[in-house]
Amino acid sequence: MEKLTRRELIDNYLKFFESKGHKIIPSASIIPENDPTVLFTTAGMHPLVPYLLGNPHPEGKRLCDVQKCLRTSDIESVGDDSHLTFFEMLGNWSLGDYFKKEMIPWSYEFLTNILNIPKDKLYFTVFEGNENAPKDNESYNLWLSCGIDESHIFFLSKKHNWWELGSGSGPCGPDTEMFYDTGKPKCSESCNPSCSCGKYLEIWNDVFMEFNCNNGVYTPLEHKNVDTGMGVERTLTVLNGEKSVYDTEIFKDVKEELERLTNLKYEDNKKSFRIVMDHIRTSIFILGDDHKLAPSNTGAGYVLRRLIRRMIRYIKGLNVEASILESLANTVIDKYSCDYEELSRNKEYIISELLKEEERFNKTLNSGLRMFNKITSHLVNNTIDGTNAFKLFDTFGFPLEFTIELAEEKNLKVDIEGFNEKFKEHQEKSRTASKGEFKGGLADNSYESTKYHTLAHITLACLKEMFGPSVYQKGSNITPERLRMDFPLDHKMTDEEKTILENKINEVIKMGIDVVREEMSYDEAKNSGAEGIFTDKYGSLVSVYTIGDVSKEICGGPHVKNTSELGHAHIVKEESSSAGVRRLKIVLE
Ligand code: ALA
Repeated sequence: MEKLTRRELIDNYLKFFESKGHKIIPSASIIPENDPTVLFTTAGMHPLVPYLLGNPHPEGKRLCDVQKCLRTSDIESVGDDSHLTFFEMLGNWSLGDYFKKEMIPWSYEFLTNILNIPKDKLYFTVFEGNENAPKDNESYNLWLSCGIDESHIFFLSKKHNWWELGSGSGPCGPDTEMFYDTGKPKCSESCNPSCSCGKYLEIWNDVFMEFNCNNGVYTPLEHKNVDTGMGVERTLTVLNGEKSVYDTEIFKDVKEELERLTNLKYEDNKKSFRIVMDHIRTSIFILGDDHKLAPSNTGAGYVLRRLIRRMIRYIKGLNVEASILESLANTVIDKYSCDYEELSRNKEYIISELLKEEERFNKTLNSGLRMFNKITSHLVNNTIDGTNAFKLFDTFGFPLEFTIELAEEKNLKVDIEGFNEKFKEHQEKSRTASKGEFKGGLADNSYESTKYHTLAHITLACLKEMFGPSVYQKGSNITPERLRMDFPLDHKMTDEEKTILENKINEVIKMGIDVVREEMSYDEAKNSGAEGIFTDKYGSLVSVYTIGDVSKEICGGPHVKNTSELGHAHIVKEESSSAGVRRLKIVLE
């Protein structure tokens, strides 16, 4: 049988859902907008959280897309057959529209009629029920009515058949998962699709979002949604009967280029090749994003640094003297730029950042290795303590797993907890954005938070009026208690400036201006001078919120109806966030 290509799988999926009344929307950025609870977009639903919580989406109630995703939780597993840090996720959504009785037959139709998977090869899991939601008999019966034999359907617990974001907050609910039987023998009598022995491989997940989770409390959503996710790389691997994701055509060009550059064979150097192929692709998608992220020692920048440095180390392990990053990068950019135009737009930036990071790493690598040898020459319990592991990180730029891997080669251990403590202390000291620091984010759609969303628009408009049009929102974080906003400014705000700003904001609030939501095309929004990062992320229609002649911003919402609802704003803090960036904290009283 002809092997399916990545593009064919994507086209088949999007066309199928288009034929069921869905609008195809573009992939959002890989760096989440306005959601500081996570560093990267980890699922197709992530950019859609405001709409899953009830805000109207300009493209309607039925959407589908292929989304750039990044998950770093198992970066150490990259190198095996199936783990990747970057992947593309196909998905379709019902925003308070269709539900199980449409979605399950469509899933069956797509798998068997479009992907031509024989029914007998398919297995399914459904939610067995708990104190939050009942046993999902409806999904079970719907699979039966598609003609699935009951021996192919398994009821499983929340651990397997419940989906929520990694942060544990946001829209969530029970799911039904679809698996492909590879034909391998069962590993035991009780082997079922939840088993990781490799007999059953997951290809699709339909989530029936009925709840919003806030700090462990589940409240029913007003609208029931459907959220689905199908990993492109894994599904292609399964459908084409490949042994690993790295054997699909997705990695063909970069694999050949790596073989050419190293004069080595993939088959003889699988682990190193796989790590390099994965990490170069992920680094390129991070660097190629219009946010222009650069390697650094905190937050998302640190993830990028770890990926690049780990890759360089594995390249060195292949005994390559010359720098090969540029050639590898060009190959990956060529492969994807027709689908992700930002990669060619930002090509120069991608390559120059990769090369700069390589140079920085090379500079400290040898002295770092000397320090590593010194540290390991007199160890207690064959363990590198947290202080020394942190020193290698902070002074010599050795990411933790780099130190761990070096240690393993010498049969030594690293005190990971000790390192994490030091790392946390360091982050708290430099008051920089880190993953765990934030609570709230987009998942919170309460009325109190909604007021702060509107306050953010007013504050930005007033800052622009005071300090000029070049001021923009570098970051914002909203909780039901306060707004935090970062913006570029070359000086600490004086007391007088703070008073002027506070007065301006309160004037707008007092004027009682209506907040008006309109839908317009992306170009119209741009031409009308609306605020927003104009990247590839927007669909052809966008929501624009206007507050009289004070503010106009592209935004998913939610917002209050009238500024008078905000009460009174008070600036409680103005401080430095990083070089040239100020941070404001404002509360509503
Ligand atoms: N959001 C669901 C997932 O990522 C579909 O599996």
